[in-house]
Order: sequence, then C-alpha cells, then structure tokens
Amino acid sequence: MAAEHTPSAASRAAAEKTVDEMLQGAWKARAIHVAVELGLPELLAGGPRTAAELADETGAHAPSLRRLLRLLASTGVFTDLRRDDLFGQSELSEVLRFDPASPVATDARFQAAHWHWRAWERLGHSIRTGRDAFEHANGVSFWTKTHDDPEARELFAAAMDAVSLVESTLVPEVHDFSASRTVVDIGGGRGSLVAAILERHEHVRGVILERPNTLEQARRLLTERGVVDRCDLVPGDFFDTIPEGADTYVIKHVLHDWGDDDVVRVLHRVAARMGEQSRLLVIDNLLDEDATASSLCVDMLLLVLVGGVERSEAEMTALAEKAGLRQHHSVAVGPGPQRIVEYRRA
Ligand SMILES: C[S@@+](CC[C@H](N)C(=O)[O-])C[C@H]1O[C@@H](n2cnc3c(N)ncnc32)[C@H](O)[C@@H]1O
Repeated sequence: MAAEHTPSAASRAAAEKTVDEMLQGAWKARAIHVAVELGLPELLAGGPRTAAELADETGAHAPSLRRLLRLLASTGVFTDLRRDDLFGQSELSEVLRFDPASPVATDARFQAAHWHWRAWERLGHSIRTGRDAFEHANGVSFWTKTHDDPEARELFAAAMDAVSLVESTLVPEVHDFSASRTVVDIGGGRGSLVAAILERHEHVRGVILERPNTLEQARRLLTERGVVDRCDLVPGDFFDTIPEGADTYVIKHVLHDWGDDDVVRVLHRVAARMGEQSRLLVIDNLLDEDATASSLCVDMLLLVLVGGVERSEAEMTALAEKAGLRQHHSVAVGPGPQRIVEYRRA
C-alpha cells in the first residue's frame, strides 16, 4: 500500500498517463482526418454552427458528429462554445482549412485517405521485413496508386507541393545558379523548384524529368509562373532515362524514397550523363544523430509508404561514391534537416 505513495509509484503513474496519451494520439489524428474529410474547418470559417447544422450540411449522423466535435474541441481543434450546442473555429482548426500552400492542411488530407491509413496499420510488416507496408496493405505500390488513381495523385502531389513551394524559394537563395545554363530536375514533381530557379535566373533553361501524369500538372504550374517557354518537360523513368549533357542536375526528395541499391542505380545513370564540369545537387533531409522525433516520423513514413529511408550526409556520400561521384560541398537549406550536397564526377 505504501508503495503507491512513493516517488517511483508517482512517476510510474505519470509515465502511464504519458503513454496512454500517446496511444490516444492515433485516435485524435483519425478524428482530425474525418473532420477534414467532412470539410468542417471550411464550414466553420464563417462562424460558429451547431452540430445539427453541420450534420445537415455534411450528411453525417448528428449525435456522432457532436461527439467528434466535443473530442476535437477538448484538444483545441475547434472550440466548444458551451451554449446552444455551438462549435466554432479555433487557431488549430483554422490551419486545417484547405489551402494549397499549407503543408499542414494538404498533409492532413493526404494522411486521411483510407489507403494511407491502411498502410500505417501494417507498420509491423515493414519492421519485420524491411519492405514498404503500402503494397502489402493496398495490393498496389504507392507509385502505381499515385500514378493511376487521379484522386491519390492529387492528394500526394498537393502535399508534396505545399512543402516544396516553401523549400523551392530557399534553394536558389543558398545555392547560386548563376553559372548554370541548363538545370535538369530529376523527379521534379509539379515543377516548383525549376520555376523558382528560372524566375531568379533569366538565362537558365529548365528540364523536368517526371512520370507523364505528374508532368501535365507541372505544365500548369510553369505556365502560371510564366516560365514554361524555358522549360522542357521530359516524360520518363529515372531508372532508364536521364537527359544528357546538362551542367546542373538536381534531385530533391527523391533518393530518400528508395533503398540503397536503387539509389546507386539512379546515381550511376546520372553520373554517366554528367560532363567533367557538371554538378549534381542532391537535396534531401539528411539526419544526424540528434534527429528530432518529427524527422524520425518522416523516416518511418518513407518506410511505410515506399520502403524509403532518411540518410545521413555520410551515408548519402558513400552511395554517391559507389556511383562514381565525389562530394564537393554541402550547405543547409533553412533551419530543418534539409541540405544540398553537391557532387561532381570522381
Ligand atoms: C517525393 S516526390 C518529390 C518531388 C519533387 N522533387 C519535390 O521535391 O517536390 C518524388 C517524385 O518522384 C517521381 N517519381 C517516382 N518514381 C519515378 C520514376 N521512376 N521516374 C521518374 N519520376 C519518378 C514522383 O512522381 C514524384 O513526383
């Protein structure tokens, strides 16, 4: 009996509470996913509403929706006005309102997709086998899903884009592209990095190598940004096709999607296309021993979705060396783990 009052019993109780909250974190995340799917942050942007009104507009079951709103309000997502059954927008739900430039809002929708959540369910498969959980859970690979299914393609590209829009403006600030003539972006997504480089340097031409369906989306962005005339859009697979002879190649947030052997394969292809003076900029999250939980969550996400991995700079350079490249220098991009590492032919 006395043990209950000793400091160790108290600290055990605190530890249990902490772990319990962590476990319930999964349920809270799921509640956010449903709120976003129902469009609640948008519906509450105009002012407080009752659960019944929100249920009417979303086709939800009113008493259950009210329970969801109460739970989320208790976490700070939405406010429970405690009168007339009204719920309102909070600072946290406001950042969940759809905005293509918001990494949080776009990521919440990407995470909410049933095929995404289902992959996390099979995390154990990844840990036991070292392989992605996505295909095990969904019957198709993440890359097939986000190529063939327009909704999945849009959710993935939007989440990627929102992050990239911010990063892409930082890259030409920390790396000087003024000596470049042609910049090839390998797996360049919807083109925000190339757009940022071309906007800053009028003499530079861009090339984006991408999967065909994503390239169509890149064309739209480059047209909106007024640089499409200086950019070639090359459909292709970076395991087979790397455009030849450019002075600058960039590959951003691509290599961490792949295992070591695949990374060496892609880098080999790039090295074979590079001239003596060409440079390759690998732009990726490069983790050190003190990686944050947030970075390590992304590392786990890469394993679950695509069998990828976040590496350290030394690990990346060891793979580049196997492909016949040598590191020239590296520089941080912003305050996070993202770095640009420049490689030249060995
Ligand atoms: C994580 S995204 C990064 C996109 C972009 N570089 C960025 O930083 O926003 C990976 C990109 O690689 C492309 N990709 C995947 N497999 C590919 C392949 N085999 N050949 C060409 N592109 C590929 C995807 O379509 C996707 O746009």
